[in-house]
Amino acid sequence: MTAASASAVCVLGGGLMGLAVAHQLARRGQSVTVISRRRSEAAGFVAAGMLAPHAEGLSGELLDLGQASLERIPRWVAQIEGDSGLGCGLRTSGIVVPFRTATERDAYPTASIGQTLDRIGLEREIPGLGPEWSTGLLFEQDGQIDNRRQLMRALERACVSLGVHFMEGAEVLDLERDSTGQLCGIHLRSAEGEQQQLSCWQAVLCSGAWSQQLVPQLPVFPVKGQMLSLQGPREALKRVIFGPGTYLVPREDGLIVVGATSERDAGFAEGLTPDGQKQLQTGIASLLPKAAGWPPMERWWGFRPCTPDEGPLLGPGPLPGLWLACGHHRNGVLLAAITAELTAGGVMKEPPNAAEEALLRAFRWNRFEN
Ligand code: GLY
Repeated sequence: MTAASASAVCVLGGGLMGLAVAHQLARRGQSVTVISRRRSEAAGFVAAGMLAPHAEGLSGELLDLGQASLERIPRWVAQIEGDSGLGCGLRTSGIVVPFRTATERDAYPTASIGQTLDRIGLEREIPGLGPEWSTGLLFEQDGQIDNRRQLMRALERACVSLGVHFMEGAEVLDLERDSTGQLCGIHLRSAEGEQQQLSCWQAVLCSGAWSQQLVPQLPVFPVKGQMLSLQGPREALKRVIFGPGTYLVPREDGLIVVGATSERDAGFAEGLTPDGQKQLQTGIASLLPKAAGWPPMERWWGFRPCTPDEGPLLGPGPLPGLWLACGHHRNGVLLAAITAELTAGGVMKEPPNAAEEALLRAFRWNRFEN
């Protein structure tokens, strides 16, 4: 085994969750190694960056977790910006959820938290909204962050500036255990093709949709999402529009990120499909007809890490020494702040307060067992 890293915590996965956890650990003075197979496929580079516990219609403990994370985001972003010297593109733009009928609106899980809009109110918030939408909910407290172009880059730089060690292109082959079952090492193949064994007593699994490949007991599976972006006129859209099956997220410079298909049967099938792209195009034409003529800039896809109840897996994992920060499904960007804080706190043995303890209990990995 390579002994040099024995005291380092290994973060398995270099996507948004891996970077966010590594950053919080490094801020606490912990030495960290991030092991990542292919960072470019991370969901953090794919998502639209909505911070939307209310617009997504979350409920129960997932809503509690989302709200707790939303509350932490300004401070979390300030830390990343301070450590990196780079902006993250946080915008408290508010999100509008349009509905065809008042009945659909009132049945929405977070209806009581939003501000009700009639058609005139909708047109004020979203000039040019399609005619089929008669009412809506405005969630002023929800927003967005430019995950693809700003947040991921700022986190990378913040981690490097705090001394985090990166192994990119390295594939974790196995988690090694000692005779008591405790994690004691990571067996990997480096980008140069060498097999190595790192001595390691604590690791955090942040492998997104691929988490089950390393720890088969974890009920995490991929839900493919296809997306595109449009270049609109600057300020053409001020609020995020969150329609059924399609949402439009306007960045500062007029780029509109459009998502997303939700393909549960696609497995890890890579690539765009004509049906998926047509679905997005139909959604754009319905929500904001004028945007149907704006030029497409990029089209891409990725894999959400989903679990049976669509909530993440947090806290201690199935083997001592392994922590979990995976399975965030549609809400990874929103939940990164609280996930990083709870996970780094757990690894560093900081006692959680009662609310944090309740959240960790609600999202333990074996909650699905009878
Ligand atoms: N957060 C939205 C999505 O996963 O499409």
